[in-house]
Amino acid sequence: MPRRIVVTSALPYANGPIHIGHLVEYLQTDIWVRFQKMCGNQCLYFCADDTHGTAIMISARAAGISPEELIKGMHKEHKADFDDFYVEFDNYYTTHSDENRQFSELIFNRLNEAGSIVKRNVKQAYCENCKMSLPDRYIRGTCPRCKAEDQYGDSCEVCSGTHQPTELINPYCATCREKPTLQTSEHYFFKLADFDKRLKDLIAAGYTQKSVANKLNEWFKTGLKDWDISRNGPYFGFKIPGEENKFFYVWLDAPIGYMASAKNYCDKNNLDFDKLWPETRLAGGTSSDEYELYHFIGKDIMYFHALFWPAMLIGAGFKTADKLFVHGFLTVNGEKMSKSRGTFIKASTYLKHLNPEYLRYYYASKLTGGIEDIDLSVDDFINKANSNLVGKFANLASRSGPMLAKKLDAQIGRLDEKGTKLVNKLAAAKDQIIQNYENLNYAAVVRTITALADEANRYVEQNQPWVTVKTDLEKTRTTLTTIINAVRILTIYLKPILPKYAGKTEKFLNVDKLKFADVETVLENHRINEFARLVERIDKEQVNAMIEESKETQSAEPVTTGPAEPIKPECSIEDFEKIDLRIARVIKAEAVEGADKLLRLQLDVGGLKKSVLAAIAQAYKPDELVGKIVIYFANLKPRKMKFGLSEGMILAAGTGGKDIFMLTADVGVKPGQRVS
Ligand code: MSP
Ligand code: ZN
Repeated sequence: MPRRIVVTSALPYANGPIHIGHLVEYLQTDIWVRFQKMCGNQCLYFCADDTHGTAIMISARAAGISPEELIKGMHKEHKADFDDFYVEFDNYYTTHSDENRQFSELIFNRLNEAGSIVKRNVKQAYCENCKMSLPDRYIRGTCPRCKAEDQYGDSCEVCSGTHQPTELINPYCATCREKPTLQTSEHYFFKLADFDKRLKDLIAAGYTQKSVANKLNEWFKTGLKDWDISRNGPYFGFKIPGEENKFFYVWLDAPIGYMASAKNYCDKNNLDFDKLWPETRLAGGTSSDEYELYHFIGKDIMYFHALFWPAMLIGAGFKTADKLFVHGFLTVNGEKMSKSRGTFIKASTYLKHLNPEYLRYYYASKLTGGIEDIDLSVDDFINKANSNLVGKFANLASRSGPMLAKKLDAQIGRLDEKGTKLVNKLAAAKDQIIQNYENLNYAAVVRTITALADEANRYVEQNQPWVTVKTDLEKTRTTLTTIINAVRILTIYLKPILPKYAGKTEKFLNVDKLKFADVETVLENHRINEFARLVERIDKEQVNAMIEESKETQSAEPVTTGPAEPIKPECSIEDFEKIDLRIARVIKAEAVEGADKLLRLQLDVGGLKKSVLAAIAQAYKPDELVGKIVIYFANLKPRKMKFGLSEGMILAAGTGGKDIFMLTADVGVKPGQRVS
């Protein structure tokens, strides 16, 4: 009886592109799904874009588009990247969907009715200028501990300390730099601690890997806290039922997106969602058409998937996953991915330079099913692709296919005793390989396959078909028949990792889509097709070019559309008209002692004398300014500075330093005249 399996990967945020770090997860999952399918199991793979939250709202604002437009474009990009890496979802949906809204409301209402949700007042930072509550990451200021400037509201990158946003010295809004105010507001909290016992039972029953369970035990020990699941508007997300300006926190509806993606698939494919993801209150024992459910995630989101999510499901009466598979983080050459080193590599950048199957193979060779970080060492990456993919696997095919076609009518014969022995040996590894795939130990799978390929290559060396072909065609045919059968079995083993490569090999072998069961049979008296190269060697230059292209091409913020420094909130034409711009003549200009950027300017504004401090000293010498006609912001509130009073401002633009240009006007104009 084939198993029925539902698999999910974490939903990537819709505010940035897919990068090679993400791909650890999507490739790990895709390999597993393909493996299950090749075993004859029914396996459905669901995912979606995670589209809600403050970050996306702000990215959209900065890009001058609606959040809906932003997530639509991102969905297309993400899907294209996944397709190009041969990540084959059965449904790649979005959390901004009707299904997700319905499930979110249903689960929230059930939890509410069950008394698992409470309302409580909280104090939070609010920006009067942006008219929004500020999440921790959107408040910046001076670290209360080490006094480093420009630190996030929740943690300091300099001293690594964590703090409350209210503890920051001189806090300001990260978007507009205004000082935030404190606001009291009512929030909804999910009473996670009520699920303490049930969560412990779940973990004890093997919900996650052992190492994850250890981490969870620490959290249990410190005690589970209530979870704030609401956010005040403006917020891009789903409105909370019965509320005007409160929304579900993105992390509430994100995992529900797994269900929404599955539901959307079921409706389109005539499947019963209630069977696929049953309600525990309705379920009556186990049945043969029951589905297994697995989530794949990275270690950074364990808290959400091992505590919040199962608690929500339990509380709302839905089935929880049979297992949560947690993986570690990607490092490159032993260090965190870095934009300046060019190792923060986007999927799309990778694809411009390299074959996706190199990365599929490389990650497979490193993944063991544990939560240790995995390192992509560039030299090892090149070496593995060249010596294994090309040198060991593809080599077997290229040493047999062309010769068969050229000298032996592309016809293979029968296996002799020696050949049968080798083929049996390769076939005997099947169960072990299946076991290792099942346990996500792809590194062991790759090791086994590589050892078998070595064996097959030794057979080629021993039998020297390129020599025998000159004297004994039938003996050569027998040798090549063995090699072709070895190629076929190794291809079956490699197929979950290298689907494209396997597809090309199937075509060349002139066989149907290979499954694990095909290991039990041999290929004899069969005509193969013309050989086409399966995979090319990597040249180090390609990798260097990819890294070069990845250097600092992105902004520091995870915003792909719009400038690094977000555009400020809208300003109306009425706002703009408040500004009174006048013509002024510089009558005196002098350096300011102690301030090497400032010049003190005396202006004549139609008879009115004004004194202005302007930060243009690196761009202009005092002498060259006297007599110049400039544009003057006349009604700016005078400001008392350390170096004296500045009455208004002269208009200049540029990125700073020497790159500042004063706006000047023609000599025909009169000081004091209005500028429009
Ligand atoms: N949107 C949330 C997940 C919601 S699931 C209901 C999120 N998105 S993410 O885009 O930041 O990450 C998606 C997945 O990729 C996560 O499982 C995360 O752990 C994984 N990875 C992101 N960067 C990674 C590395 N550098 N290395 C390995 N996996 C990484 O989290
Ligand atoms: Zn602001």
